[in-house]
Amino acid sequence: MGGGFYISKFVGVVGIVFGAGAVATVIALAVVYSQEVAKNEAVSPTNGGSTVKPPVTTPGGSTVVPQVTTPVIPTTAPSNEAWDKYRLPDTLKPEHYNLTLWPRLTVNAQGLYIFTGKSYVVFQCVKETDLILIHSNKLNYTKWGDDHLAKLSALGSTPVPTIKKSWLQPTTQFLVLELNGKLAVGESYQLDTVFVGELADDLGGFYRSVYLEEGEEKVVATTQMQPTDARKAFPCFDEPAMKAIFHITLLHPPTTVKCCIMILNKTSSYCPTSFDETKKMSTYLLAFIVSDYDYINSTSDNVLIRIYARKKAIADGQGEYALNKTGPILKFFEKYYNATYPLPKSDQIALPDFNAGAMENWGLITYRETALLYDPNMSSNSNKERIATIIAHELAHMWFGNLVTLRWWNDLWLNEGFASYVEYLGANEAEPDWNIKDLIVLGDVHRVFAVDALASSHPLSSKEEDIQKPEQISELFDAISYSKVRSSIFSTYLNTFAYDNTVYTDLWDHLQMAVNSTGTSLPTGQTVHSIMNRWVLQMGFPVVTINTATGMINQQHFLLDPATAGSVPPSDFSYVWIVPIRWMKTGLLQKQTWLEDKTVTGESWILANLNVSGYYRVNYDNANWERLLNVLSSHHESIPVINRAQLVDDAFNLARAKYINTTLALRTTKYLRREREYMPWESALDNLDFFYLMFDRSEVYGDMQAYLKYQVEPLFKHFENITRNWTDVPNGHTDQYNQVNAIRVACSTGMEECQTLTKGWYSQWMKDSAKNPIHPNLRTTVYCSAIAAGGAAEWEFGWTQFKAATIAIEADKLRFALACTKQPWLLNKYLEYTLDATKIRKQDATSTIVYIASNVVGQSLAWDFMRDRWSYIFTQYGGGSFSFSNLINGVTKRFSTEFELKQLKQFQADNSEVGFGSGTLAVSQSIERTTANIKWVAENKKSVQECKNSKP
Ligand SMILES: *[C@@H]1O[C@H](CO)[C@@H](O)[C@H](O)[C@H]1NC(C)=O
Ligand SMILES: *[C@@H]1O[C@H](CO)[C@@H](O)[C@H](O)[C@H]1NC(C)=O
Ligand SMILES: *[C@@H]1O[C@H](CO)[C@@H](O)[C@H](O)[C@H]1NC(C)=O
Ligand SMILES: *[C@@H]1O[C@H](CO)[C@@H](O)[C@H](O)[C@H]1NC(C)=O
Ligand SMILES: *[C@@H]1O[C@H](CO)[C@@H](O)[C@H](O)[C@H]1NC(C)=O
Ligand SMILES: [Zn+2]
Repeated sequence: MGGGFYISKFVGVVGIVFGAGAVATVIALAVVYSQEVAKNEAVSPTNGGSTVKPPVTTPGGSTVVPQVTTPVIPTTAPSNEAWDKYRLPDTLKPEHYNLTLWPRLTVNAQGLYIFTGKSYVVFQCVKETDLILIHSNKLNYTKWGDDHLAKLSALGSTPVPTIKKSWLQPTTQFLVLELNGKLAVGESYQLDTVFVGELADDLGGFYRSVYLEEGEEKVVATTQMQPTDARKAFPCFDEPAMKAIFHITLLHPPTTVKCCIMILNKTSSYCPTSFDETKKMSTYLLAFIVSDYDYINSTSDNVLIRIYARKKAIADGQGEYALNKTGPILKFFEKYYNATYPLPKSDQIALPDFNAGAMENWGLITYRETALLYDPNMSSNSNKERIATIIAHELAHMWFGNLVTLRWWNDLWLNEGFASYVEYLGANEAEPDWNIKDLIVLGDVHRVFAVDALASSHPLSSKEEDIQKPEQISELFDAISYSKVRSSIFSTYLNTFAYDNTVYTDLWDHLQMAVNSTGTSLPTGQTVHSIMNRWVLQMGFPVVTINTATGMINQQHFLLDPATAGSVPPSDFSYVWIVPIRWMKTGLLQKQTWLEDKTVTGESWILANLNVSGYYRVNYDNANWERLLNVLSSHHESIPVINRAQLVDDAFNLARAKYINTTLALRTTKYLRREREYMPWESALDNLDFFYLMFDRSEVYGDMQAYLKYQVEPLFKHFENITRNWTDVPNGHTDQYNQVNAIRVACSTGMEECQTLTKGWYSQWMKDSAKNPIHPNLRTTVYCSAIAAGGAAEWEFGWTQFKAATIAIEADKLRFALACTKQPWLLNKYLEYTLDATKIRKQDATSTIVYIASNVVGQSLAWDFMRDRWSYIFTQYGGGSFSFSNLINGVTKRFSTEFELKQLKQFQADNSEVGFGSGTLAVSQSIERTTANIKWVAENKKSVQECKNSKP
C-alpha cells in the first residue's frame, strides 16, 4: 500500500483488516467518468458537422436485408401486464445471438442515416410461459409471412407454439410476442427478426460520429450500449445478468479488413466481415465499429494491442503514449488479479463524438479523443495523467465488471468503485514518479464528501426493485457510485464468478474468509457483513468529534445543511457507523483502533484520520483546533501533506454545517503564504471557490481578492525562481500542477506582474499563430487569463485556433478558455454555438454551457439560456444521456438568493411534462443546495467581511 491510506468508507475496515495490504487492499474511491465528465475535456479537432440533414440522396439499396415496413404500435394494453414492467421476467435465458448489421454511411431518400439488421437469438425456456419479452427500442421490424414481427422456431423435438399476437411496447422498450401455447421448460428456441434503426448522432446505441479529414466528411458507425442502449441496436435481452455468446457480422464498404475494424473505401458495394464469436458476456459490453481509421499495434505476452484513431492522429504519433502504457498496465493487472487477461486482443479506439470519457467494452474500449490521444507538444501533464488513469480504469474493468459482472445496476457502485480505485494502482505502475495515489483524496474523496453530505444523497447500494427505468439506471452513474467505494478483493472472488454475475454480498463473504485466515480483530460481535452494511446500505458518512478536554469521542451523521436532517430517509442502522481511527499526537503516530475503544485527553495537539484513511470528517474542541492552527503557522511540515489538505477541507465543511464558525475555517488558510505543496493549496482553493461563488457578485468580493492575492504572492515568486523566470518546467508532477495554481490565482486576483506575463505570451502567439510560445501545462490558464483580459480580437483568435486545432486536447483548452471572456455579447454568441453541432460537438455542449455559467458574467446568461431551451436540449440529448445532472448542477451552483430559488422551482414546475431524465435528482439537489446557500450567505457575509478586514 505504500505511502498512502486513502479515505473511504471501506478503508478503515479493509485497511485494518488487511493491515499493510497482505491481500490486495483496495480502496476504490475514485472515478473516472464522473470526474472526467464533470471536468469535461474533449472535443475534436475538426469542424464536425454532425447534424446536417441534407435533402435527398441515394439510399443504400441492397438485398441483404428484406424490405422493411413499419410495425403496428399496440392498442392500449391492460396495465400491470408483464410488458408494463421494466424488468424481464425470469422465464427465458439467452444462449447465443447471431447478428448481422449494415450501417449506411450516407443519408437515404428520407434524409436519414440508417442501419438495417437481421438477427436471431437462441434461448432456453427456464420457466413455462406463453409470453416472450425481448428488449427493443426505436427499431422498426419487417413482418414475416404470418404478419408477425418475429419468427419463432424450436430447436428441440417439442413442437413450437404459434404466435397469437406481436407488438412493440415503447414505454418499457419491449418487443412482445403472445403465443397460442406454452414454451417447454428445458427446450431451446430460436427467434428471428429483421429490422431497421436510425444511425443517429445521439451518442447512444448504434450511432454515427462525423469528422472532417482533408476537407472530406467522414462517418464512423460506432456504439455505446451501457447502460440500456443495446436494445436500440438489435432486439436483445438487455439486462447485465442475461449473458450470452454473440456472433456478429458487419456489412461495410469494400475494405482492407484489419481484423475488427474496417477501413472504408468509398466506391461500390458492401461486403461482410464476420467476427469470432465472443465469450459469454453482457449486452452492455458489446461494441462494433465501422470506420476509416488507422492503427498502431504491438504485442504483450501474446495479447495483441492496437490503438485506433483518425489517420492524421495516428500519423502524428498521438496513439503512441497509449500503446506504450497499455502493455505494462495489462501485465500489472494480470499480476494483481492473479488471472490472465481473458481475451486474445485489446483494441482501444478514439472517437470524435463520445458522451462519456471512455467505455470498457470487452476487447474494444472506446474513448473520447482527449482520453486516449497524447502529443508531447500539445498535452499538459494533467492531460497525460488523465490518459494514464482512464486507460488503467478501463483495463481494470476487463476483469472486474466484464469477466465478473454485477447482477443488476443497483450494484453499479461495486463495479465503478473498484475500477476507480485500481485505476490509481494501474496508473501508478505506468508512471511511478507521479505519486498519483495521494491524489485520490483531492480527486475523489473531497468530491464525494460534497455530494454525500446532502440529505438527497443515496446509499451505495439501492434495492434491486428501486432501480427499474432506463433513466433511473443512468442516474446511478454519478459521483457517489464512482467515488465512494474502497473495497478489497481477491483473485478467488474473480475466479469464483468468472463469466457469471454477482451481488455485493458475495464480496463480503470473500473478505470474511480473508479476515478469518489472517486472524485480524474486528470489534466485538461484528463481522465484515455487519460493518460493511453500515457503509453500503445507508447513505452519507459521519463526523467524528474529539473533545480533548473531556476525552469524549462521538460520531454523528454529517449533513451539510443540518436543517435537512428531518428529510433524511430512515436507516436500519440509525446513521451510526463502525469507524476505524488512525491518528497522530504531537507528531507521534498512534496505532489504529475502533472508535468505541478510545478516549483522548491532554495538552498536546491531536490529529485524527491520519493520511485520510477513513471515510469521515473530524471535528475537535476549540483548544485542539487552536493547537492545530499553531502547528500550521509555525512548523506545518510536522503534519503530513495529505492531512494539511484535509484539515482545510474539514474545517470549511464543518463551518458550512455550523459545527465550527466560518472564521475558524478561513484561518486555516492563513498559513498558505508558507505552503509550497500542491495538495493543501488545491484543497484551500477548492473551498475558497465556494466563497467566490457565493460572494463574487457582492460587496465582499474586493476584500477576498486582496486577501488571496496577498497569500499567493510568495508562491508565484517561488515558481518564477525555480523555473528561471518561467523558462523551465518544475520537476515534480504535483509541482507542475501547483505552478498552474500560482499563475491562475495570481492573475485572477489581479497581480499585475502575472497579467503582463500571460497577456504577453498570448499576444506573441497572436502575432505568429504557427508558433505557440505557451507551455502545454500552462495553456488552459494562460488562454483563460488572456481572453478574460482581452476583447473581441483575443476571443476570435481563440475561436479560430479552436476550430483549427489538430488534437482534441488543445481544442478543449481553448473551448474552456473561450468561456472566460467578460463580454456578455461574446458569451451569448458562444452559448448559441453550443447548440449548433457544426460549431460545438454535442458531446461538449453541456460542459461548455457549464464553463460559461462558472464565469460570473456568464452565470445568468447560461441560466436563461438553459431554461429557455430545456425541451430542445432534452430531446436532442435523449432521456438516457449522462450529462444532464452535470448541466443542472453546474448552471445552478452559484444560486444563493430567494429569487433564484423561486426561478429554480418554477423551472422544475414548467418542465414537469418534458422531464429531466437523468437530471431528475440534480434538480432536487439544486433546490436543496440553493436553500442551504441562501441561509449560508445570510449568516456568513459579516464574518467574511470581518475576517478579511483583519489583514493577516
Ligand atoms: C449466422 O448467420 C449467418 C447468416 O445469417 C450464417 O452464415 C452463419 O453461419 C451463422 N453463424 C452461426 C454461428 O450460426
Ligand atoms: C420507423 O417508423 C417510424 C414510424 O413510421 C418512422 O417515423 C421512422 O423514421 C422509422 N425509422 C426508420 C429508421 O426507418
Ligand atoms: C476500392 O475498392 C475497389 C473495389 O474493391 C478497388 O478497385 C479500389 O482500388 C479501392 N480503392 C481504394 C482507394 O482502396
Ligand atoms: C502490427 O501489424 C502489422 C500489420 O498488420 C504486422 O505486420 C505486425 O507484425 C504487427 N506487429 C505486432 C508487434 O504485432
Ligand atoms: C513510446 O515508447 C517508445 C519506445 O520506448 C519511445 O521512444 C517513445 O518516446 C514513447 N512515446 C511516448 C509518447 O511516450
Ligand atoms: Zn468504469
